[in-house]
Amino acid sequence: MIVLGLESSCDETAAALVEDGRRVLADVVASQHEVHARYGGVVPELASRAHVVNVVPVLRTALERAGVGLDQIDGVAVTCGPGLIGALLVAVQTGKALAWARGLPLVGVHHLEGHLAAVYLEPEPPPMPHLALIVSGGHTALARVEDHGQVVELGRTRDDAAGEAFDKGAKLLGLGYPGGAVIDRLARTGDPRAVELPRGMIARSAGDDFSFSGLKTALLHHVRARGVPEGQALADLCASYQAAIVDVLVAKTRRAARREGLDHVQVCGGVAANGALRAALRAAGAEDGLTVHVPPPARCTDNAAMIAAAGYHRLRRGERAGLDLNATATLPLPRRSAHA
Ligand code: KG4
Ligand code: ZN
Repeated sequence: MIVLGLESSCDETAAALVEDGRRVLADVVASQHEVHARYGGVVPELASRAHVVNVVPVLRTALERAGVGLDQIDGVAVTCGPGLIGALLVAVQTGKALAWARGLPLVGVHHLEGHLAAVYLEPEPPPMPHLALIVSGGHTALARVEDHGQVVELGRTRDDAAGEAFDKGAKLLGLGYPGGAVIDRLARTGDPRAVELPRGMIARSAGDDFSFSGLKTALLHHVRARGVPEGQALADLCASYQAAIVDVLVAKTRRAARREGLDHVQVCGGVAANGALRAALRAAGAEDGLTVHVPPPARCTDNAAMIAAAGYHRLRRGERAGLDLNATATLPLPRRSAHA
């Protein structure tokens, strides 16, 4: 069964073809980073316009690379939320048009369910149930994954997402957008203990929720007092800032895994591409007897292969969206009340 995935929830226009929810035939991503870089963040209207321009070429390229004709596709999966409404609508409308024109089954996929499915494309996917740390530009959550499409959120950020913390920190330091990868690179030669920064809500009593806005403010105060450093001092500040984010993510993930009695953990979303986070989680996993699953960096950030993989399971269960499928900007995961 070949599923076409389409994704346009933020600043990536993506199309992919995946066979049987496992084998990636093509995975094409057109990034708009250059469009938004000068504004230091995603400008929704510019994102929508760029998606409209890119979606058909990206779809064509995916079909060409896979060597697959439209007549060989068995179903269409589109991200229907959460995300920027005008951006989401582009993939949703394209998917609906294709499904209608070719008489194909259509399903809408939750963007975070898509991120969770990226790791199912790997040779050894995590067994069900498992714990998931979802860390992207728009979301930070701990979730219990019972089965494909069956996710219960245990905790989430109360303010900024982890990726947002990286991006806002990078903006403050004049490092451009998106800043996560830049901080990751600069931090490699820095001392993570050089600058003392707060670890928001790291205490057990804070439960599974996160908070990163205090860290951003602490960086702002540091920069106001001392200016933006250069050279080694900049690397040290990046490493310290990154460590403050990573320490919190790792501590809370370990604690949740132990409490939930889950010994497989997956990490997904753009921040899962972070070298320090990957290394720290693997080290913590080795200590705690946890198996840590992380997709390759290119499948951590937004792509459509993950949407096709998640859509495959929905289609197989017989789920079908009608042509009234709509995009939804806010689409929370089902939530379980926080533990003390
Ligand atoms: O999952 P994603 O592509 O989009 C959303 O669904 O939000 O995540 C993008 C986020 C951005 O905030 C970006 O700065 C961050 O992921 N990111 C990273 C790295 N690569 C991307 N953050 C830290 N280290 C990285 N290497
Ligand atoms: Zn995403």
